[in-house]
Order: sequence, then structure tokens, then C-alpha cells
Amino acid sequence: MPQTAEKHELQSLIEDLHAKYQPLTDGRVATYIPELAKANPNEFAICIVTADGRMFEVGDCDRPFTMQSVSKPFTFGMALEEIGHEEVWRYVGVEPSGDAFNSISLQNDTNRPFNPMINTGAITVTALLHARYRERTFDHLLARLGAAAGRQLTVDEAVYHSEHRTGHRNRAIAHLLLNFGIVHGEAEAALDVYFRQCAILVTCRDLAMMGATLANMGRHPLTGASVFDIGCVRDMLSIMFTCGMYDYSGHWAYRVGVPAKSGVSGGVLAVVNRQLGIATYSPPLDARGNSRRGIEVCAELAARLGLHAFDCLNAGSSFLKVVL
Ligand code: DON
Repeated sequence: MPQTAEKHELQSLIEDLHAKYQPLTDGRVATYIPELAKANPNEFAICIVTADGRMFEVGDCDRPFTMQSVSKPFTFGMALEEIGHEEVWRYVGVEPSGDAFNSISLQNDTNRPFNPMINTGAITVTALLHARYRERTFDHLLARLGAAAGRQLTVDEAVYHSEHRTGHRNRAIAHLLLNFGIVHGEAEAALDVYFRQCAILVTCRDLAMMGATLANMGRHPLTGASVFDIGCVRDMLSIMFTCGMYDYSGHWAYRVGVPAKSGVSGGVLAVVNRQLGIATYSPPLDARGNSRRGIEVCAELAARLGLHAFDCLNAGSSFLKVVL
């Protein structure tokens, strides 16, 4: 008789969590970008990719959706690497703001955005890239994010145009930044790149793969491409840990304890350093703009697998172990 291969424990776990959280229906799909309102609230996907490229997935993992704010740590990493820490630091801070993602606020003393995960900081980062690459900026950015995913990515033109047409708040932010000399004179052109980066299409599988690239010290687990410098990966993960979930970031660090980033189309990307990329997709959001099901799945995965950075299973610096 043919042997039936036993299901992997991680596969069973995500299937259980998918079934458990599918009935959670109290979130709301984002509507402030009109095109996003068309999302199906029942779609739900969970994907985990290990740092050596093994994949576990359940649900609508083939469904493309726009990255939105999940693009922010990647553009931040690009800016650190290509423009340099000192220069980026002159224009954007690394402090959690405790405010909503679209808050119109800057640090009192410096007039810099608090951090690159909220809109003020992310638009600044994109403007820094735009000041360097001008009309080549978006293609360059798309290629680097594609390298992190391991395939050529594309843009959802309808979502891009929808936000371009209605993104008055972001336009106000860009002009406030222009007023303080944080973005250069081509604020509108930089904003256009920002809207496009938010409209990059990924699947849940792509996002988990991008997370696995970060978990694997910046190298794509399957293509072997070196996508981000190790030092920048550390900085990207740090800022995701402290600021990635907006005004839920403190609670997230306390409850889940891994670096993560959410987007208003319903994606959540979480990274377990040196081990896993975890992605969820479920469009209904809580009041802070984080995927309702995504948060619960990540919290339960962290609890069940001991993923929290301060879990007793995390034994700390191996260097110290040698020298002590
Ligand atoms: O700039 C915006 O408002 C959107 N393009 C992205 C915001 C976002 O994803 C916030 N995430 N939860």
C-alpha cells in the first residue's frame, strides 16, 4: 500500500488557524481609497516561508492585492543602503509616533517625520529616492521589491489612479514636508511614486517570501539573490518592531513580539529573525487600519510557536555564550 505522507505540523497549525479565524467578521474593508472598497471581506490567506525556502500556505494565497504600507520598510531599506544612514536620519526619525498612520504631525524640535512607517516618513523616504533617481525611481523600486519577492511585480493601475485622484491628505502631507524643506521641489512627482509603490500587486505568498528574504539576512531563499545588505535588514526589522503597526505597535510588541508591517488593503507581513517570513491577507481592518484576522493569526502563531523576541526559548547572543 502507498504510504500517505504525514501533514507537516506547521501546515496543520495554519489550517486550524484559518478555520478558527474565518468566522471573525467584525473588521471593515478600507474605503477611503475608493478602489479598495471592492475587496472581498471573506478572502483570507496565511503563508509561512522558512529562511531556507520551505513554504506552508492555506486559503487565498494566489489572490493579488496591493502592498500599500507594507512597501514602507522596503523603501526605507533601499534609502538606507543607497542614500546612507546619515542622510536619511537628517530627514526622518526612528521614534514611534503613537499616532494614526495618516497623522499630519512632525517632531517638534526638528520638523522631521517621527518614523518611516507612517505616511509622513514614508513619503519623505520616497522623496529622498526620487531626488536621487528622478523618473527612474519607480522602476528601480519595483525591481528591488521584485527581487525580494523573487519574481517581477506589477502595479494595480486602478488602485493607483484611485488613490492619485483622492489622496488629498497625503498631498497635504507632501506639501507640509515641502514647506519644512524635508522634501525637494518635486513634491508632486515624489508623491506619484509613493502612490505607485502602494499599488504594487503581491500575493500572500509573495509577501511571505519577501519576509523570508529579510529573515534570511537579505538573501532570497530560493533565487539566492542578495537583495538587502545585512546591516540594513537589522534597521528595517527594528523599525518594523517599534513602529510597523502604527498606534498598535506597543501592544503588538507586547503581545506578538516580532517585527511586522501592515497595509490598508489587508496584508500583514511579520518576520521571525533568521527563521520565518509570515504573511496574512484578509481585507477587513480594525479601527487602526490593521487586518483584524491578520493580527489574531500572528498573535496565535507567536504564542503557539514561541516566536516572541523575549520568549524564554530565545537564548540570546551566541557570541556572548562563547566569551562568557
Ligand atoms: O497612504 C495611504 O494612505 C495608503 N496608500 C497606505 C496606508 C496604509 O497602508 C496604512 N496601513 N495600514
